Amino acid sequence: MTMTTTTTMSGSGTGTWTTIGNVADIPRRGARCVTSPLGRIAVFRTMEDEIFATEDRCPHKGGPLSQGIVHGGAVTCPLHSQVIALDTGLVLGPDEGRVRTFPVRVDRATGAIELMVAPQTAFAEAAE
Ligand code: FES
Repeated sequence: MTMTTTTTMSGSGTGTWTTIGNVADIPRRGARCVTSPLGRIAVFRTMEDEIFATEDRCPHKGGPLSQGIVHGGAVTCPLHSQVIALDTGLVLGPDEGRVRTFPVRVDRATGAIELMVAPQTAFAEAAE
């Protein structure tokens, strides 16, 4: 995914929206990764073209959620099948837990995907 950074004001205060790619870069029911000082972030696209971002680390044993199966508004971890809600990051089962989620928005005119990140956070494309 192509990465560019722009700084703007968010709707809920000062923050940095970082352009991390385009909706067209992610297949429906798929995901891509970006890396940051916060760790790997998985960016998901649902069948309905909703975009969500979570840390790319399953709370069970650290499985790569970006390689999981997206279904509805959830992803199933590829390692041991924990199901995680993409909007809240909550584990829906079979265990409990939560992954960090990140605010994301899409420019519907251009398809650009932006993540809200802390100031000075630099992003780089993850090797896949
Ligand atoms: S690491 Fe994800 S379910 Fe075990």
